[in-house]
Amino acid sequence: MNPASFPALRMRRSRSSAWSRALVAETVLTPADLIWPLFVTDGQGVEEPIATLPGVSRWSVDRLVERAREARDLGIPCIALFPNTPRELRTERGEEALNPDNLMCRAIKTVKNAVPEIGILTDVALDPYTANGHDGLVDEAGYVLNDETSKVLVEQALVQARAGADVVAPSDMMDGRVGAIRSALEQEGHVNVRIMAYAAKYASAFYGPFRDAVGSRGLLKGDKKNYQMDPANAEEALREVALDLAEGADWVMVKPGLPYLDIVRRVKDRFEAPVFAYQVSGEYAMIEAAAAAGMGDRDALVLETLIAFKRAGASGILSYHAPLAARLLADG
Ligand code: PBG
Repeated sequence: MNPASFPALRMRRSRSSAWSRALVAETVLTPADLIWPLFVTDGQGVEEPIATLPGVSRWSVDRLVERAREARDLGIPCIALFPNTPRELRTERGEEALNPDNLMCRAIKTVKNAVPEIGILTDVALDPYTANGHDGLVDEAGYVLNDETSKVLVEQALVQARAGADVVAPSDMMDGRVGAIRSALEQEGHVNVRIMAYAAKYASAFYGPFRDAVGSRGLLKGDKKNYQMDPANAEEALREVALDLAEGADWVMVKPGLPYLDIVRRVKDRFEAPVFAYQVSGEYAMIEAAAAAGMGDRDALVLETLIAFKRAGASGILSYHAPLAARLLADG
């Protein structure tokens, strides 16, 4: 029998009422798909708006707790923390990253204590701590040293795990760091600390507002192209993912988000592992700028972009729009 064709088949029939559209939806977005990235700053009672990320602020640890409660109440399962290290604590080698009483660790402990139900994901990389804005240790020529950096990242991940981090997320793109972190975590008994590897992280122009948020934009010397990936490459991303999974990553991430949905899909098709997408700061800023200029409807843009990640195969999405999206979803 021939497949049905018009007029027996009318694709618009299923679309003709809301209940029917709901019934045939192939993917769903729920608050449980979201991870909310949050910026932390020193002090008490502080909220510092970030100019290039309108609607997003840095919070002092006490106010961060309010955000964690908000996330929990909205059904967002996990928050991702990024510290804005005071300028005077940033050094060439980023030693503050290893201080067990640094801003990040104080934030982890305080949130863990106040809101134990929520997952805490922490970034493993040196850029919020280095005076040169790079994710690792830099030689005289400005090259980010791989193996030396990896050793420091292992220590950083341990410091975070001891403070109570549930998920450590190496965002540095050094070779071999996932394996090194995994074996150190096992050795110290942190057997349930999950690793979300920034496996396919591209050298992207979409990170600008994030670098303002953690105070590294003005400091960054050169670019990150000798460790982050070339946007021209896709097969290389699959090799990165394969390596990170083999080294013991539980989850992998593709970053940025929307321009790299093809990578999300290919990773999902190739590997039986949860893949996450990071809708990064520049993507957030573009939506906000468009909405502010009357060029688009913020709520609709946010929900459409987030469902696109699910359709591409993402298990979850890191997004600064997470609380807005969760509210919109709750309102139906
Ligand atoms: C740093 C890091 C970056 C982001 C997350 N972790 C920036 C960078 O690599 O320069 C970007 C996130 C965003 O833009 O929202 N290791």
